[in-house]
Amino acid sequence: MSFNLDNITRENVKGLSPYSSARDEYVSDGSTMVFLDANENPFENGVNRYPDPQQRGLKAILAEQKDIEEENILLGNGSDEVLDLLFRAFCEPKEDNIISLPPTYGMYKVLSGINLVENREVLLTNDFQPNVDKILKTIDSNTKLLFICSPNNPTGNSFSTQIIEELLNSFNGLVVIDEAYIDFSSEESWISKLSEHPNLIVTQTLSKAYGMAGIRLGLCMASSEIIAVLNKIKPPYNVNQLTQDKAIERVLDVASVAQEVKDILSEREKLRETLKTVSFVQTIYATDANFILAKVDNANLRYTQLLEKGVVVRNRTTQPLCENTLRFTVGTAEENKSLISALKTLSN
Ligand SMILES: Cc1ncc(COP(=O)(O)O)c(C=O)c1O
Repeated sequence: MSFNLDNITRENVKGLSPYSSARDEYVSDGSTMVFLDANENPFENGVNRYPDPQQRGLKAILAEQKDIEEENILLGNGSDEVLDLLFRAFCEPKEDNIISLPPTYGMYKVLSGINLVENREVLLTNDFQPNVDKILKTIDSNTKLLFICSPNNPTGNSFSTQIIEELLNSFNGLVVIDEAYIDFSSEESWISKLSEHPNLIVTQTLSKAYGMAGIRLGLCMASSEIIAVLNKIKPPYNVNQLTQDKAIERVLDVASVAQEVKDILSEREKLRETLKTVSFVQTIYATDANFILAKVDNANLRYTQLLEKGVVVRNRTTQPLCENTLRFTVGTAEENKSLISALKTLSN
């Protein structure tokens, strides 16, 4: 059996007529019109009108930058909203299941709990790669989504291209590649493979490299058929006007984003070198993201000591395969100096 979108879409979603908003029914062609259709306050203040539910201005720019069509993009209130929409479109509560690969981003598990969908966890291998044999054995006819986070949070590494390719070719459900950290990575995005794999979904975000975590903008890129299903169930105005405006401004400022990424990567390498000199740091894991996972002698102790010195890092010690690890986000040169000086004091 091969991938068939109709087979994996929930029955209630297939038959659904989405809410049709005023802004969906009448699309302005730019000519001057009198808008008395949406019960808005007519006095202009920049946000008195509902935003474009399809975010056409922003999507047109993103489509060009990513070399895909607008019909291949859905935007959400952060990629967290996009991930939730995937559960709601494709997973029947109490019946279907998804597969996640811990240690990984915690929201896949939380969203499966919220949506009453079984989360089947298949541990990464000791070198933090997906365990293909175990994943394939875990898949059954009710497995709808496989979440692959690459570069992976919290380990920082990218997954092998061959392994991801194998999973895409052998799974008849949807493979969701979460590329939140792709802009820091030396690997290419999977977006260019969308036309080869009808079951591929790629998610990205403006929260990391683009420095826009506060506006909440996430991207979902997939076949136009998958995007059409998600469009049916998304809240009509899920991306507000301020976010659309700010995102357009930022994504057009290609040079600033590139410079910041460059600075973060060079700071990351400096931090890596310094971590090697800290006596209680035992392993520094390879990273393709804007953070470094490191094994220390006692993560709970070191976490608390750093807090006392005013530096907040992430303690990942309770995550599988991550015992006694701390995750350090790469900050500005000055912030990293604070971290390093705190670590050095504790190291003596
Ligand atoms: C792997 C991964 N995916 C998604 C997100 C959430 O992104 P957003 O801010 O777009 O909701 C995060 C945030 O930490 C993340 O680490």
